[in-house]
Amino acid sequence: MYVSLDPNEYHVLHPRPAYLIVTSDREGRLNVMAASWVMPVNDEPFILSLALDKETKTYQNLLEVGEFTVNVMGEEHAGLVYQAGSLSGKSVDKWKLLRLEPAPSKFVKPPGVKGSYGFVECRVERMVDVESVALVLARSLAVHVRQDLYEKYSWNLGRARILMHMRRRVFVGPGKVTVVPKT
Ligand SMILES: Cc1cc2nc3c(=O)[nH]c(=O)nc-3n(C[C@H](O)[C@H](O)[C@H](O)COP(=O)(O)O)c2cc1C
Repeated sequence: MYVSLDPNEYHVLHPRPAYLIVTSDREGRLNVMAASWVMPVNDEPFILSLALDKETKTYQNLLEVGEFTVNVMGEEHAGLVYQAGSLSGKSVDKWKLLRLEPAPSKFVKPPGVKGSYGFVECRVERMVDVESVALVLARSLAVHVRQDLYEKYSWNLGRARILMHMRRRVFVGPGKVTVVPKT
């Protein structure tokens, strides 16, 4: 038995991992925002997309410097991620306010966030307008992970408590891992 919800009830596709996106303006001032509408689009080369509200400072920064990092965060970062997603860099220096420290990037101007589980260095290839959002398509130039948290091909979910966003102030972490048997 199903019940029908409003067609705009997008939370049906949550929880989703909650990342931090770091950008830089032309003068090198850093900004950070929370984003959970982030999706891999192609594997080799690794292309990913952001659904980015065009009202954000992050969008403005990407028009100035088309580079960013996507930072994978943990349950312990929920408060930080929430703040980065509730305040705008248009009115406050979030990098300073949230006392963030840079993790060096190799190929792009914006750094990663020190303490994140890992981060992807990205260069924007294309933006597509979708209503009030820019669908940002970007290429991965480098991927960095914390070696204590990542095994050969994926996160050790016992240690990497990857943060996911349910709605508003509600976040969840990974539960039980199920491996589907071969048939
Ligand atoms: C957990 C979480 C996830 C979010 N995901 C997105 C997202 O995918 N895209 C988006 O445009 N805004 C998203 N937001 C809202 C932005 O983070 C928010 O508008 C932020 O203030 C923008 O910051 P900026 O203006 O400094 O760029 C999210 C907020 C939270 C708390």
